[in-house]
Amino acid sequence: MTATVDPHAELNSLLDRVEEGMQENLVPIEIFSNDAIFDAEMRRIFARCWVFVAHESEIPSPGDYVLRRIGLDPVIVARDESGSVNVLSNYCRHRATMVCQVDQGNASHFRCPYHGWIYKNNGDWLGAPHRNRAYRKLDPKQWGLLRAPHVDSIHGLIFASLSPDAPTLRDFLGEATVWMLDALFGLHPDGMRVMAPPDRMRVRTDWKSAAENAGGDTYHADTTHISLDDIGLAAKLPQLNDHARHYDLGSGNTFIGHGFVDWLGSDFWYWGYPRELTSQFVTSGLDDAQRSMLDSHPPITGTLFPNFSYLRFPGSPDPETKPLAVYTSIRLWQPIAPGVQELWNWQLSWNCSPKEYSEACYDAGQNAFGSSGVFEQDDTVVWEGLPQAARSVFAQKNHMMANYQLATEGMSEQSKDANWQGPGISRITGFGECNQMSFYRRWLKEMRQPGQQ
Ligand code: FES
Ligand code: FE
Repeated sequence: MTATVDPHAELNSLLDRVEEGMQENLVPIEIFSNDAIFDAEMRRIFARCWVFVAHESEIPSPGDYVLRRIGLDPVIVARDESGSVNVLSNYCRHRATMVCQVDQGNASHFRCPYHGWIYKNNGDWLGAPHRNRAYRKLDPKQWGLLRAPHVDSIHGLIFASLSPDAPTLRDFLGEATVWMLDALFGLHPDGMRVMAPPDRMRVRTDWKSAAENAGGDTYHADTTHISLDDIGLAAKLPQLNDHARHYDLGSGNTFIGHGFVDWLGSDFWYWGYPRELTSQFVTSGLDDAQRSMLDSHPPITGTLFPNFSYLRFPGSPDPETKPLAVYTSIRLWQPIAPGVQELWNWQLSWNCSPKEYSEACYDAGQNAFGSSGVFEQDDTVVWEGLPQAARSVFAQKNHMMANYQLATEGMSEQSKDANWQGPGISRITGFGECNQMSFYRRWLKEMRQPGQQ
């Protein structure tokens, strides 16, 4: 008789340890580089959740497309002739060659480079070479590209889900998150556009480290980034944590806000946008709580589970010679392998913004968070430790845990904001880590979904 081996034994035992550790706001280091965890993340998170794939302004016209990934799956995000956006598997249905190999462009159809099967930009099978002599009986309806069953957008941000059972995008995000996105991206009816194709860089860090950092880690700013204060690129950085708010919108979606006016002065009202621009913003559709948040502590970073983040901040490549400009970046923490991610960074600009100001925003954003940006370089290096520790026998034998105990009652200066009228919770703190724990609780919930392989 052969003993039955549970293929999920290692995974389940690790998830048990995560659950146990989280009760004390500790997270086992193994989850930051582990084959079983990574495989389960692909199946239970990225094959199920709504994942950001593109901004509508990247594919404004029929035929426009960009290549993206959902988890490890390469997809073509294409606008077809009817104007609909299709998210298509980039694997040819014949022998799975990558059908489209050019990052972006405009095409009515895609022709596989191997044997030449052709698909329309809505994924339909269109034809094959030697059709009268080869594949005579093939049923075209059966052989179109695989398609994401759900595609939707909010404020120009296109998301897709590979699961037929997914809830609607708005239900997945939750009311509180939609409320936040309305406040951040709904400030002008003309919306925003991407300024250029996304920067991409591969870094030896786990996607979760980046996602939780953007959603809640104010604690690191005046250590990791202090050299920017030293050289005058980030004034008053050590005082930043005196003016922070942590917004926890539930479901692992969290944001950080800052009291710019109190911290840096009245020029920094609404992140520091020039009055010519803020006077064009239409905030009449927002509620009092949204307006009050934007007035006092506008969000500077945030994360939507699983791997999308937002960033808006004033900056300049050279404050002595160039005026400050407020950049908006959206970013994707793209898992590539255990402990490895690709960081995607788009710079956005308001469509109503003057061209020169948009260009200044782009320069400021690239200087800070482009692939050679001064902030980005700081962060990606410090995140490299966790996946290395995750593979360390010594660290594992000693049950090393990542410490998020700034979420523990009494561990840090932290209180609920009694004046907060928005959804979820706002905490007055520059140090708390409740946001990060909210992210990991959502992660664990998804990894524990019943019935998942
Ligand atoms: Fe695409 Fe053969 S693999 S046509
Ligand atoms: Fe940082």
